[in-house]
Amino acid sequence: MTEHGGRRWRLVLISSPLQGHMTPMLQLGSYLHSRGFPITIVHSELNRPDPSNHPDFVFFPLPNNLSGTSVSSGVIQFLQALNDNCRPHLEKHLIQIINTQKETSEKESIVIIYDNLMFFAGSLAADLRLPSIILRSSCAAFLPAYRIIPQLHQEGRFPIQDSLLQEIIPELHPFRYKDLPFNGLPIQQILEMVTMITPKTPPVAFIWNTIEFLEQWALTQIHHQYQVPIFTIGPLHKTSPTLSTSFLEEDTSCISWLDKQSPKSVIYVSLGSLATIDAKVSTEMAWGLASTNQPFLWVVRPGSVHGCDWIEFLPEDLVSEMKVRGMIVKWAPQKDVLAHSAVGGFWSHCGWNSTLESVCEGVPMLCQPFNVDQMLNARYLSYVWKMGLEMVVERGEIESAIRRVLVSKEGEEMRRRAMEIEDQVRIAISHGGSSRNSMNDLVDFILSL
Ligand code: UDX
Repeated sequence: MTEHGGRRWRLVLISSPLQGHMTPMLQLGSYLHSRGFPITIVHSELNRPDPSNHPDFVFFPLPNNLSGTSVSSGVIQFLQALNDNCRPHLEKHLIQIINTQKETSEKESIVIIYDNLMFFAGSLAADLRLPSIILRSSCAAFLPAYRIIPQLHQEGRFPIQDSLLQEIIPELHPFRYKDLPFNGLPIQQILEMVTMITPKTPPVAFIWNTIEFLEQWALTQIHHQYQVPIFTIGPLHKTSPTLSTSFLEEDTSCISWLDKQSPKSVIYVSLGSLATIDAKVSTEMAWGLASTNQPFLWVVRPGSVHGCDWIEFLPEDLVSEMKVRGMIVKWAPQKDVLAHSAVGGFWSHCGWNSTLESVCEGVPMLCQPFNVDQMLNARYLSYVWKMGLEMVVERGEIESAIRRVLVSKEGEEMRRRAMEIEDQVRIAISHGGSSRNSMNDLVDFILSL
């Protein structure tokens, strides 16, 4: 299939070094490879994927010279440095390929598929006259939600006054002002960020790791704005699973621990790959977990609590109390955890991957969003899909929230909705379902370029 009508294709996938972005890119590569396309994964030196888990791909590392710059030291500086430093190497490489093709009159179409955070790839593709497609690994609603910020700023509605926080934004119904991304950062930084991540060169198409029925309104908005095909092929971890893509080592001992727990009794707690919190908040979480009667599995990522290596800040008696019913790990095989029959609820930061992974397994969620698209995802979960609960992270509130999501009568509707949505996802990813059809359409589209 690589050859079609006498032509051949080379797909160059440009990934970003963030866990929640790298995973969907590798999954996409895996699907496109299964359809006969040769895949080159271009990645930065920071957070390299493990080639031994993907023997069918060619890997092309880019020196990123980030020396000390990290997401936590400032996202704008990090993204700019990453993009500036990665561009020259890829440019040189692509020009070499194009020149070789000219010399040998080889007919090979190069298509660039890039993570939206690697925005240099869009302008590079345009300069080299190559078609480019953007892979988006956050919810579709994130794009209209950040694109409206400059308009809200001009009209005096952003930065948000406290009195408006709970109000619905008429242009973004049902999202509220408090659900907008980046709120709390200095306004000039937000505007700079919005400009930076808004595509300058329109792509020939978007690929979205979402499911049509979950986000119809946002997808229609984007289609009106960009007038290019949008392929909604999610959730990629189901439509195109791969071997582990984790940057951290997964502690698989939690699966044997889960095997010993009763069905749907465990609350799984994880705040993703980037969020960081104060020791005070983390201690409050620990007390909340210790006081519930439900078993729990808590991921505390090393370095995720300010100023601490791991959980050394928790009092020893509290840790011993917690161990009676719970398990604490540094990183879990999350997809397997959520698919385990013992897990009945997921207390999450609501990153888009985590949201999709929970939705697919019919696991209701406790929502503790931090930033970026997470507040939008939490709003979807609690208000639109009605399979989640926005929570207050105080020890007294935590216990009742956990009871509600797992066992109490009040949470019955939420648990029922989670199962209903799981069924709808199953249909979307089956033969003839929206995501399957979109995957086939994507292949036809690439072949038409
Ligand atoms: C970031 C942003 O925070 C998020 O809002 C955006 O949608 C994508 O990028 P991140 O914090 O990495 O996301 O969260 P998420 O999107 O949920 O991705 C985390 C990934 O790490 C998931 O695929 C999850 O399965 C995996 N994970 C997490 C593990 O494998 N083990 C763990 O212990 C925790």
